[in-house]
Amino acid sequence: MPTESAGCLLLFGATGDLAQRMLLPSLYGLDADGLLPPGLRIVATGRRSDDDAGFRASTAAALERFVPAENLHADHKARFLSRFSYVAADVSSSADFGRLAHAVGAAERGLAIFLSTAPSLFGATIAGLAGAGLAGPGVRLALEKPLGTDLASSRAINDAVAAVFPEQRTFRIDHYLGKETVQNLLVLRFGNAMFEPLWNSTRIQHVQITVAETVGLEGRTGFYDGAGALRDMVQNHMLQLLSLVAMEPPAQFGAAAVRDEKVKVLRSLRPIGRAEASACSVIGQYGAGAVAGSPVPAYADELGSGSTTETFVALKAHIDNWRWKGVPFYLRTGKRLPVRQSEIFIRFKGVPHSIFASRGAPVQPNKLVIRLQPQENIRLLMMAKQPGLSREGLRLREMPLDLGMPNAFSDARRRIAYERLIVDLLEGDPTLFVRRDEVEAQWEWIDAIRDGWAAVGMTPKPYAAGTWGPSAAIALTERDGVSWHE
Ligand code: BG6
Repeated sequence: MPTESAGCLLLFGATGDLAQRMLLPSLYGLDADGLLPPGLRIVATGRRSDDDAGFRASTAAALERFVPAENLHADHKARFLSRFSYVAADVSSSADFGRLAHAVGAAERGLAIFLSTAPSLFGATIAGLAGAGLAGPGVRLALEKPLGTDLASSRAINDAVAAVFPEQRTFRIDHYLGKETVQNLLVLRFGNAMFEPLWNSTRIQHVQITVAETVGLEGRTGFYDGAGALRDMVQNHMLQLLSLVAMEPPAQFGAAAVRDEKVKVLRSLRPIGRAEASACSVIGQYGAGAVAGSPVPAYADELGSGSTTETFVALKAHIDNWRWKGVPFYLRTGKRLPVRQSEIFIRFKGVPHSIFASRGAPVQPNKLVIRLQPQENIRLLMMAKQPGLSREGLRLREMPLDLGMPNAFSDARRRIAYERLIVDLLEGDPTLFVRRDEVEAQWEWIDAIRDGWAAVGMTPKPYAAGTWGPSAAIALTERDGVSWHE
């Protein structure tokens, strides 16, 4: 349940890439729309030595770069920048935490802390916060991924956090939960009576979740090569999408009810271990190729060395419960794919008997496409009669019923996913944040897959940049008579 709004936001990693590209533009967008608490002060901190004026100038430059020009207004910008103060801090220094505490002032009046730093700094930061009196009952802590590299390291981080911040004041971020269509998925499922009776193995043949990216390594050599697609994308974003698609109806739209249902799904995922690794998973790494008509180098060339890290993964998952018995969930994600496109694709079963078959008119099964990116859009594909008379018989056509967000709600500005999450953090509503038991259930499933790969010696198959991954990914679904939706 929302509590009192925070009066101060303390942002660690304020000079880093995520802050510049996402967090500062999100805060600006909220401020411009009057959605930040009026007196909110923002204390920014990082290792860079700077002062308030210097930090405000670099923030102004980041806004110029990352906020669309039509949304930037000089008066909003000046008011926004005046909220900031900057304290250079080394998280191993208690003196620096003293200076931070001084800048923050009375933490009991509601303090939200956002850690957008490397997880290796989490332990020292949390200890420093506790030592400086910045962890009391009025303080909430948000943590950005990656929260560990496996179950054991994730537990260690969670334990370090839990020693100082109780779970109800810990806000683990998965920015996919801030995306508009992801929240809309809940409204589609539970705000309409028509889908729920069909939302099970009796009526659904399979589900696909695709998160395709055109970008490559983007200079994140150290991090990405140590992570790979499974840990970077599936462990968090894709499993969150899967749990929202598959969960039972929660009793309320509230943190406990929603997260209780999601974690049940995550715990019902059938393990993909050594015995299933080859049949249920495919990994790939991009070679040189072309994306959107431009040549791009191979992953190993971007990295500057050979590597066995996967930049593509496709999985065939099962949820072992009553609702989803026998329904495969195909997941795939990769870098340097032909288009940036993220979607959830639900393929319903066909009609039990087609009365039109004798008239030479094939009937396609219904499909529901929930598109997250690049445009947000929900589309239901239905059969309709093509208008007109014809001697040869009926002509049927698959027609889309569109709930096109940009058109239907054209007055609403498309927001950065972090905007929603920052508001919820400031107001203390954890519904769209990930609870410890969810993260750990996610890691448990992912660790088993990685152990399986290691046990059978699976290494990534090459694919050309600009293609949909290795051909084995196509075979993964084709074996079941299913094609990837593109
Ligand atoms: C991040 C991953 O969590 O999500 C990145 O670390 C990835 O590798 C990004 O590019 C994708 O987010 P979005 O919102 O652009 O789909």
